[in-house]
Amino acid sequence: MKEVTINGITLPAVGIGTWNVGDHPSQRQDEIAAIQAGINAGARVVDTAEMYGNGRAERLVKDAIAPFDRGNLFLIDKVLPQNASARLLERSLDRSLQNVGTDYFDLYLLHWRGTVPLLETVTTMEEMVKKGKIRSWGVSNFDVSDLQELWALPNGDHCVANQDLYNLDERGIEFDLLPVMRAHRLPLIAYSPLAQGDSISGKLATNKVLQEIAANHQATIYQVMLAWTLREPGVLAIPKSGSAQHAQLNVQASSLEFTSDELKQLADTFPKPTSKQPLAVI
Ligand SMILES: NC(=O)c1ccc[n+]([C@@H]2O[C@H](COP(=O)([O-])OP(=O)(O)OC[C@H]3O[C@@H](n4cnc5c(N)ncnc54)[C@H](OP(=O)(O)O)[C@@H]3O)[C@@H](O)[C@H]2O)c1
Repeated sequence: MKEVTINGITLPAVGIGTWNVGDHPSQRQDEIAAIQAGINAGARVVDTAEMYGNGRAERLVKDAIAPFDRGNLFLIDKVLPQNASARLLERSLDRSLQNVGTDYFDLYLLHWRGTVPLLETVTTMEEMVKKGKIRSWGVSNFDVSDLQELWALPNGDHCVANQDLYNLDERGIEFDLLPVMRAHRLPLIAYSPLAQGDSISGKLATNKVLQEIAANHQATIYQVMLAWTLREPGVLAIPKSGSAQHAQLNVQASSLEFTSDELKQLADTFPKPTSKQPLAVI
């Protein structure tokens, strides 16, 4: 099973996303069971945000993690940009801590950049670390120029991760952002690693190369997509699933190793960018 180290803690490289969970009461039990199946299969990271269902996802996470040892989990939450200020951040954080039923987050992310000056957010994040409400902080949807601005600030280099969109069909960050992050030993948290189940285009789901490689490994194409995001070190992927079976398959996907021929086939089919791309976001 592949691993990634964030803030000095080594974790299984597949975690659990929670966007859009908790929205439908009829699906709640399945969504809880899916998170629990992922944790039982070995996942330790659960990623949520105050934005998701306006706290509904956080409250579902609370119920899902209740049977587990909190100390073994690595909980990530995110603050909305408009709340990432000296005045509002702690209030958001306290509300999220209460929703999730914990007294600290392992990692607290700025969900994306807004109008609050970065220095104000960094300074407030540092205060929250000192108070013990978060163990570390990071950012999301940051491109190279955002990181450079961040690193130039006092304590800006205390940022321990950047969460960005990354999957076989969205390789833009490989041109410059990923190399810059690797040079700074900043882990990537890959969001939407399954291209949201390929629900929009279906392009990946019907791809012959993906299907062949999946068959080679007696795996599903989603496991191949997920394993591909983890083919190089320093990446944590956080697929979301409301199905216990999918959640288990996702954790198991981190053991899938590609041959060099398979990696070449995938690279030929889903080419790496050859120029700077605007940062893709969802
Ligand atoms: N920081 C940000 O701005 C940001 C933005 C987007 C997402 N995120 C985070 O990243 C997480 C993941 O991204 P996402 O939810 O957008 O999309 P995703 O994880 O790429 O895809 C989720 C979709 O894939 C399906 N799926 C999951 N596992 C599967 C499997 N093994 N086989 C077949 N289908 C499978 C799910 O359906 P089932 O439920 O039926 O399994 C769901 O429809 C989010 O939940 C959130 O925590 C962060």
